[in-house]
Amino acid sequence: MNKFVLKGDIIFTSNRDNFETYEDSYLVVEKGKVVGIYSELEEQYRDYPLKDYTGKMIIPGFVDLHLHAPQYPNIGLGLDKELLPWLDTYTFPEESKYGDLEYAKKVYSKLIKDLWAVGTTRAVVFSSIHKESTKLLMDMFMDSGLGAYVGKVNMDRNTVPKLTESTERSILETEEIILEYKDKSNLVKPIITPRFVPTCSMELMKGLGDLAINYGVPVQSHLSENTSEVEWVQELHPEFLDYASVYNEYNLFGQTNTIMAHCIYNTDEEIKLMANNNVFAAHCPYSNFNLSSGIMPVRKFLDNKVPVGLGSDISGGNCLSIPKVMAAAVQASKMKWLETNRELAPLTSSEAFFLGTKGGGSFFGKVGSFEEGYEFDGLVIDDANLNIKKLPLEERIQKFIYAGDHRNIIIRYVKGVEIFEPK
Ligand code: GUN
Ligand code: FE
Repeated sequence: MNKFVLKGDIIFTSNRDNFETYEDSYLVVEKGKVVGIYSELEEQYRDYPLKDYTGKMIIPGFVDLHLHAPQYPNIGLGLDKELLPWLDTYTFPEESKYGDLEYAKKVYSKLIKDLWAVGTTRAVVFSSIHKESTKLLMDMFMDSGLGAYVGKVNMDRNTVPKLTESTERSILETEEIILEYKDKSNLVKPIITPRFVPTCSMELMKGLGDLAINYGVPVQSHLSENTSEVEWVQELHPEFLDYASVYNEYNLFGQTNTIMAHCIYNTDEEIKLMANNNVFAAHCPYSNFNLSSGIMPVRKFLDNKVPVGLGSDISGGNCLSIPKVMAAAVQASKMKWLETNRELAPLTSSEAFFLGTKGGGSFFGKVGSFEEGYEFDGLVIDDANLNIKKLPLEERIQKFIYAGDHRNIIIRYVKGVEIFEPK
């Protein structure tokens, strides 16, 4: 259906400073995009099919900027460890299994179903080093109707033998996926995915940066998540000023659209470089708590105009739900505020909501807001069970974030198309 109207209590954030609320209003969608929001339906839209959700909330779909699909079976496991031992003990053994397409299919179908359930309409995903199961994951996202960037992981050093690729093959297989998938779908696209500096030789990073530039493909990786990891990068690359400069040298730092997960220990220079190169930070508070990584100073990034979104970071993170990640981001920022003698102000509710919708959505283009021309990714929320007293909309959304769950989400749209539970 090309044109339709939704009626309900509409709330979104076009900027992080405040919620925009339209109670009992009409949202008009044409060709997958938002046309406008009206308190009275104008004459020209009166013959459009009307979906009446009076009394329910209509909000943007959630955007998960960072998760690892093959780690889904490990959710909740090994979270008494720190990053590097956790990778060796839990993550690499699990990721070694994805040469088996049957196993991959079982895991990925459960993950996509659960992403749908929690209202994530767009996700930026690491797969494993395996080419065929990466393609399978992309095909399964396409079948689901959800939006995703999916990256085959690249690693040619410092990992277990089963996951160590030859440099040449790693680059060739990445190129093969780019060629096959770059124009296949509007909603599911490849992303270049060097795991992180410690597992990628300079030759590999150079090859991947060349692919990024030649094909105009985006990039994702990890940056400054853990103190031992940062020290390791310094030992491996003493010739570079800092961690970010390694990626930057190889055209993997904003030369094409780029996301860096975590960014807890960035220097001021690294933050400035992210701002200058428009590199997105994916803030993953659950993961940062679980792996005792630290607390990202998210306010510094916002003040320096670095684009920021939220990530579940499954399975360093143990929670797939972006509204729950929003709440954790507020909690983390409040601890940071205390830790800095009340210097770095905590996130407000509207800021957290912005990060999990338009903040991350901007990586996909005009996504994550209901401003005119935005792709209509929307959720209908039945929050009747959450409210004992009547509340204004900006408080109903807080209730949903902190006290609601996937059962409150009754309808999902991606780019103007209603998405049903994936098979
Ligand atoms: N750094 C390198 N690989 C990973 C990973 O799989 N998860 C997290 N949280 N950090 C990483
Ligand atoms: Fe990660």
